[in-house]
Amino acid sequence: MARVLVTRRLPAGGLDPLDRPDVELVTRDDDVPYTHDELVALAGDVDAIVCLLTDRVDAEVLRAGAPRLRAVANVAVGYDNVDVTTATELGVIVCNTPGVLDETTADVAFLLVLAASRLASEAEADLRAGRWPGWGINQYLGRDVHGATLGIVGYGRIGQAVARRAAGFGMQVLHHARNDVGEPGYVPELDTLLAESDVVSLHVPLTPETRHLIGARELARMKDTAVLVNTARGPVVDEEALADALERGTIFAAGIDVFEHEPTVHPRLLAAPRAVLLPHIGSASFATRTRMARMAAAAVVSVLAGERPANAVNR
Ligand code: NAP
Ligand code: GLV
Repeated sequence: MARVLVTRRLPAGGLDPLDRPDVELVTRDDDVPYTHDELVALAGDVDAIVCLLTDRVDAEVLRAGAPRLRAVANVAVGYDNVDVTTATELGVIVCNTPGVLDETTADVAFLLVLAASRLASEAEADLRAGRWPGWGINQYLGRDVHGATLGIVGYGRIGQAVARRAAGFGMQVLHHARNDVGEPGYVPELDTLLAESDVVSLHVPLTPETRHLIGARELARMKDTAVLVNTARGPVVDEEALADALERGTIFAAGIDVFEHEPTVHPRLLAAPRAVLLPHIGSASFATRTRMARMAAAAVVSVLAGERPANAVNR
């Protein structure tokens, strides 16, 4: 009998692939995250872990899992919370959930493009607080999204889904990544994209190379009318530098779904002008979260059957 630890309650139907007579699920009744110590204690007694991006599956957890642990399936496409290098050394297959959340996450990126450019959060906050004196010709003047230039940093699955939305708004699209995928608009230098874009949207994974990819230097290269959108990972942006830029008005606005120290949000960002802030809801639709859970569960079934799933991320 294989034992599979599932660290949190997943959307209904998400664990269906693991509903098998040869699998015992290790869960707990209350939907409370395991502490790191609890994960370490549990890892040695299971064959696989289905975890979330909020679980830190580091070398300590993985070593505690050896030699029984064979798979870690992260219910997220980003897997910066898992130490893949150590997992690989130990022969543990790490899987993520690519592809099934692209459109849903791109929808939220575009929501932030629109909301930040048109100052939706500030305007709504004023209305709710009774501060709206009535229609005014100089109130809440934002930046047009239609016809603007969108710079996409990280032109993979989600970045390209955002580009498809931009086409409908008549936007010109520039994109940057380390490799040119051969589509029009490729900009090999990030600085060039930053200088030429009206809206910059981030879609890179969090890696040592992309940590603080956007800091004070990069923000200074953006137009003072530009909007920055981050639905990638919080640490891709230096939040102190972003708060400075918003306070000083050296960029126009920001739309942020991910934060450096979630769930804590930098107090200067909370107070910053022209910032639309969402609590990491990029993939949060019923259908997509269910697809993500099923994909992770199915990957565990494959590993237990001795196969290497297509969504394994170990090199
Ligand atoms: P993907 O298909 O792997 O695309 C990543 C892109 O980033 C590729 O174009 C890659 O191209 C580029 N890239 C990687 N390192 C780079 C670097 N150092 N400099 C410039 N470009 C770099 O990934 P995806 O599925 O689109 O997901 C992207 C990220 O979105 C995930 O890793 C996750 O962190 C985040 N995400 C967030 C949410 C949310 O809820 N907010 C939801 C889903 C995903 P090259 O390798 O050619 O550079
Ligand atoms: C969400 O942030 C993901 O990486 O899937």
